[in-house]
Amino acid sequence: MAKGTIFERYGGFATAGKIVMAFYDRILDSDVTGPYFDDVEMPRLIDHQTKFVATVMGGPASYSDEMLEQLHRRLDVTGSAFDEMARLFRDTLEEFAMAREDIEALMKEINSRRDVIVSAN
Ligand code: HEM
Repeated sequence: MAKGTIFERYGGFATAGKIVMAFYDRILDSDVTGPYFDDVEMPRLIDHQTKFVATVMGGPASYSDEMLEQLHRRLDVTGSAFDEMARLFRDTLEEFAMAREDIEALMKEINSRRDVIVSAN
């Protein structure tokens, strides 16, 4: 088993920042996830993605499930929007040539929060 969190092993903030930017482009380009961020200013969106990546990679600025639920409740995130975001995240990690087992571990982290994030049909 490799040592440290995925966040640490893949270069901490430097890599997380690059993943964030690539993920960010995909989320805005998607007709499913893009609209959720229509009224969100870009610095806040980048902030969102950074915390998203840090949270699932086990880095600093991790959010508790209680916090995540509170922050997303009013957003009416649908199951398909969640799945789309998870898919775009996987695509991004593949683009960064992350090891398959690490990708699977991150996808597990994301999917374990599905019920916390999704609040609409
Ligand atoms: C495991 C999955 C997710 C995690 C870990 C996550 C993480 C976060 C965090 C940490 C924030 C708070 C940012 C802040 O204000 O400090 C946030 C807000 C937000 N999230 Fe998520 N998120 C997830 C899934 C989603 C999905 C699927 C959507 C929509 C498709 C979404 C849309 C938003 C929006 C629109 C905000 C508000 C941004 C703002 O107004 O500043 N999130 N999320």
